[in-house]
Amino acid sequence: MAEKPIVVVGRKLPPSVEARLARDYRPKLNPDDRLYSTEELLALCADADAILPCHTEHLNAEAIARLPATLRIVANFSVGVDHCDLAAAKARGIVVTNTPDVLSDATAEIAILCMLGAARRASEGARLIRAGQWKTWSPAFMVGTQVTGKRLGIVGMGRVGQTLARRARGLDMEVHYHNRRRLAPEAEAGAVYHQRLEELLPLSDVLSLHCPANPETLDLMNAERLALLPEGAILVNTARGALIDEDALIAALRSGRLAAAGLDVYKNEPAIHPGLAALDNAFLLPHVGSATKETRDAMGFRALDNLDAFFAGREPGDRVA
Ligand code: DGY
Repeated sequence: MAEKPIVVVGRKLPPSVEARLARDYRPKLNPDDRLYSTEELLALCADADAILPCHTEHLNAEAIARLPATLRIVANFSVGVDHCDLAAAKARGIVVTNTPDVLSDATAEIAILCMLGAARRASEGARLIRAGQWKTWSPAFMVGTQVTGKRLGIVGMGRVGQTLARRARGLDMEVHYHNRRRLAPEAEAGAVYHQRLEELLPLSDVLSLHCPANPETLDLMNAERLALLPEGAILVNTARGALIDEDALIAALRSGRLAAAGLDVYKNEPAIHPGLAALDNAFLLPHVGSATKETRDAMGFRALDNLDAFFAGREPGDRVA
């Protein structure tokens, strides 16, 4: 009988996922959940058939060029694949997969949390309470922005964007969106399409980003585009930090042109721009969009389904390269 494939696992995974890995593969687990350097990761891969990384393991073109010839698949534990040079993998004939669908609900939930946290000044309120500085109540105290009935602009109407649109309708929000392609009417469900991002921005009381990070979307929300948002708008980002010029965002939040931002992702995470951390009107979370037990299990099983298909000689369902 052929030996089970060796799989290098980037981070500590949920117990049920690691149990299935141990049953079907020879995994090199990371029980201490250490963030490997590229050199450590490459050393672990020396005799491996597959790698199961998260977005924290950066597989750039140089790292991919140094993977051993035995390594034939990168089965990501993530929907985003910006940490992985797909062209380099493709050129070497290495298959790359991701984990779409299974994190749409959890990520849309966190987008709602970021929207409400920003709109209702949640960071500021929590900080007051914890610092023992809440002294009184008054009609002028901690007045925020109501989102009910407002216009929500969604940039990137894929699975997460569409899920967020459904949740936002529960808040009676009017949904507008920009996407490379217009959706079919059933998927659009009444959302208004804007072919140009610049048309969507002035209409968006709240703007939520849901597009992938790639060279075209780097700093998508720069100073010029932020200036197109209505006075007092709210910006939400649960996709990737690379989509926002953080210096420009900080300037817009400081001046009050933007009322607030709700962010789960950052350009140099886990390092946060000090200017952001200093702002009361920034509601900040540590990249926890998919961090629910249900979703993390489902992401792991989806990555394993892709590995299983590949090693059984079938096309993996979520192949991206
Ligand atoms: C994803 O799946 O892309 C999430 O951001 C976690 O990596």
